[in-house]
Amino acid sequence: MAPPVPALTPEQKQELAAIAQRIVAPGKGILAADESTGSIAKRLSSVGAENTEENRRWYRQLLFTADKRVEPCIGGVILFHETMYQKADDGRPFPQVIRDKGALVGIKVDKGVVPLAGTNGETTTQGLDGLMERCAQYKKDGADFAKWRCVLKITAHTPTRLAVMENANVLARYASICQQNGIVPIVEPEILPDGDHDLKTCQYVTEKVGGTSGLSPSVPSCPQDVLQPLGVPGSLVTPRGITFLSGGQSEEEASLNLNAINRCPLPRPWALTFSYGRALQASALKAWGGKKDNTKAAQEEYVKRALANSLACQGKYTPSGTAGAAASESLFVSNHAY
Ligand code: 13P
Repeated sequence: MAPPVPALTPEQKQELAAIAQRIVAPGKGILAADESTGSIAKRLSSVGAENTEENRRWYRQLLFTADKRVEPCIGGVILFHETMYQKADDGRPFPQVIRDKGALVGIKVDKGVVPLAGTNGETTTQGLDGLMERCAQYKKDGADFAKWRCVLKITAHTPTRLAVMENANVLARYASICQQNGIVPIVEPEILPDGDHDLKTCQYVTEKVGGTSGLSPSVPSCPQDVLQPLGVPGSLVTPRGITFLSGGQSEEEASLNLNAINRCPLPRPWALTFSYGRALQASALKAWGGKKDNTKAAQEEYVKRALANSLACQGKYTPSGTAGAAASESLFVSNHAY
């Protein structure tokens, strides 16, 4: 058998490792601001704002220009394609605004979830065609990392082996293409919280999905329930960090659970931090309410959650009692789409 050809040069590996390390540096996590136009429409309409390009730009600008307090909290910001090419009021492209604040730019590169034929409502994610060229362009335009979201559902009969294998394969192809272009891939097999299954089932499925490469997943055992479904994927080999999404938890729950994860006295060679969309934005969105005059108030709410999660990813969060407007509201959306 011919010897394997290395996929990446030592220099490429070094660049990717340095990027990943910056995103998940101690106290830092990710702001997921990559809602598709359809998803942001729902968020905007929930606060009575119209889904215009200018409203989308204004709202994202508000997040990206929050004051210096967020700088030690946010290592990366994930954008949707449209946002990548929008500009702040002062004329700077958004990727530059983000980089000027010391964070790295991420880009959602998948093209959405589609039905997987032969299954009962399971899905795969499309977007591999042309991905090499798109990644090369995004890298030139300032992106250093990417996201690709796959979705798995827990029911009595799912996820099926077919869905697990198909999604693992597409995530691996995506990750490889990103790496060839100097882009760090976030591998996101999102297991939806929908259903009435218990924590043990969640743990079992998470391990099954994460361990698909055949390596046995290392499962931390910890007295705290919240850690049990962690099931750190063996297939990730040497991830620099594991960034949890908030997945419909309230803002406060998302911070408390991340804090509990980081307080568990177990060896872990990776950062365990956040890549939160809803749990960083819900109070800010509410405070903004589509009105430019509320920009400062909305930024304050965002800063509050960024600071809380920065502490939580170091296991240092204690609720202050000054939680924001939506801090304890459930952010669960059935069959969530991004
Ligand atoms: P939520 O935090 O809203 O679940 O989304 C996060 C996300 O998309 C991470 O990439």
